[in-house]
Amino acid sequence: MKHSPLLGIVMLALAFAAGSIALAADYHMGTTLHCSDCHNMHGSLTHGQDGNPANPALVGGPTTFLLKGADPNSMCLACHDGTTLAPDVMGANTGSFVREAGGLPTGTTPYESWKGHSLGSMATAPGGTFSNPTGLECVDCHNQHGVSSVTGFPVGYTNGQWRNLKNKPGGSANNTPITYAIGTNDPTKDVFERDATLGQFSTHYSINNVDFNEPNTTSSAYANWCKGCHTNFHGTVGGTEIGGVVTTGNYIRHPAEGVDIGALGGGHSSISRWNATGKTNWVKVMDPAGLWQYSTATSGATGNYTPSCFSCHKAHGNQNPYGLIEMRQTGTVTEEGTADGVYTSLCTQCHVQGTP
Ligand code: HEC
Ligand code: HEC
Ligand code: HEC
Ligand code: HEC
Ligand code: HEC
Ligand code: HEC
Repeated sequence: MKHSPLLGIVMLALAFAAGSIALAADYHMGTTLHCSDCHNMHGSLTHGQDGNPANPALVGGPTTFLLKGADPNSMCLACHDGTTLAPDVMGANTGSFVREAGGLPTGTTPYESWKGHSLGSMATAPGGTFSNPTGLECVDCHNQHGVSSVTGFPVGYTNGQWRNLKNKPGGSANNTPITYAIGTNDPTKDVFERDATLGQFSTHYSINNVDFNEPNTTSSAYANWCKGCHTNFHGTVGGTEIGGVVTTGNYIRHPAEGVDIGALGGGHSSISRWNATGKTNWVKVMDPAGLWQYSTATSGATGNYTPSCFSCHKAHGNQNPYGLIEMRQTGTVTEEGTADGVYTSLCTQCHVQGTP
């Protein structure tokens, strides 16, 4: 088998990062920002950096920004769709693991455009004003150069932004970076990534590798990030966007921070459904103590589990409308939730209305 040039790059990055990997995370940033992954200097490329044929090949060109593809999306997708060069982020997965972010719509069944974020869409983000007049791009959400290479890290923030997510998406004034811990959990960071070893996509990008902390029990950095484009869909409890609580008036939009499952009782959200006997599947929630799933060993009758956008949606999409996670309480977990899941399965993870 011919040595893949990209694998060479990844191995090099691994060798370089050995011993310091906990700080240099994860890829396309800092020391793993390999310009030649995405740029070509002269609009011509006879071979890759290691002498083997370039993989992926240069397509068309020369193009603006010296990109290796016709435009940013097709350039990213040359590695990130249907290859083993990089994690597959569009449609079905070439790997056999459950992706945390799911798959972007391809436009054809079972990944129709109404099942997540459609690249190329000129639509306005629901609840906000953002639209990309030339069509939605990966780089509307991800910083192609890793945030670290553009701006200094804010105080107390050493790993760059999780998944190279863009600061201030949608041009919002809001700048709440999604911080993350690797290997050992740090409850002061928003995300816990258990393993960030490069070249192991089925570990690095699997739902089992990621959980969400709650460093501030009244907020969600993740929901704030989505709010950059979906302005009105997120706010603090009692705030104008989502309304109040029962004492001052019920919610007018679903909460995504600052309220724990079961806090109000009376079926508004129910810790008994969350803690149901025999339950084996839980959607993702934030928890300040890193508990996430009910267990008699670690949790009492009430927990501090807080829903956020990722409890209900896959960030990229899946085979369900709106990229919803329709997860029954038992059964094999898939990117759709569970194979037999329906809309109600999602709600009955936390609410007593309806049949789980
Ligand atoms: C993951 C892909 C990727 C990698 C790796 C990458 N770039 Fe880029 N770069 C892009 C894209 C995409 C754009 C164009 C963004 C746009 O459309 O506005 C860009 C734009 C640029 C620009 C124009 C100014 C700007 O920031 O938009 C410069 C200069 C640049 N890159 C330099 C580099 C250098 C130097 C490296 C290596 C240290 C590098 N890039 C690595 C994807 C990448
Ligand atoms: C850079 C702006 C931007 C950010 C950030 C963003 N979105 Fe969107 N979103 C859009 C646009 C534009 C649309 C409408 C076009 C489409 O459906 O692809 C959309 C549509 C959606 C839809 C409807 C999809 C459908 O198929 O009808 C959902 C659900 C959604 N976003 C959830 C989220 C969540 C959750 C986050 C945070 C992880 C998020 N968005 C972050 C721009 C954004
Ligand atoms: C609307 C915003 C948005 C767009 C557009 C988008 N992403 Fe993402 N992406 C995210 C968010 C948010 C996450 C992490 C969230 C999570 O896993 O819950 C993510 C995760 C990822 C991951 C980690 C994979 C995983 O399953 O955890 C990769 C790789 C990635 N994106 C690449 C891309 C590429 C390449 C494109 C374009 C082909 C793209 N993204 C388009 C928002 C976006
Ligand atoms: C030459 C191939 C190549 C191209 C082109 C490419 N990537 Fe990647 N990307 C990779 C590889 C390889 C990884 C995974 C490294 C690993 O985990 O082993 C990766 C990982 C990522 C991640 C996850 C970072 C993390 O560590 O959490 C994001 C986000 C991402 N790419 C976005 C993009 C975007 C956006 C573009 C286009 C602007 C792009 N990539 C273009 C090869 C590529
Ligand atoms: C409790 C589950 C839940 C949470 C939490 C949640 N959503 Fe949704 N979202 C849904 C459902 C379900 C729909 C489909 C519409 C419906 O049934 O009301 C939806 C629809 C959407 C849409 C499409 C709206 C339209 O007009 O087409 C966007 C955008 C969206 N959500 C973004 C977000 C963002 C951003 C967050 C976090 C701030 C979030 N959602 C949190 C369940 C949720
Ligand atoms: C991960 C847990 C979780 C999931 C999943 C979830 N919810 Fe909720 N929901 C909550 C919490 C927590 C509250 C706030 C109520 C409280 O304070 O106890 C809430 C509040 C509500 C309220 C407002 C009640 C009030 O007092 O005003 C409605 C209605 C609601 N959810 C419907 C839904 C529907 C429909 C779904 C499925 C699409 C859903 N929820 C999925 C946790 C969840």
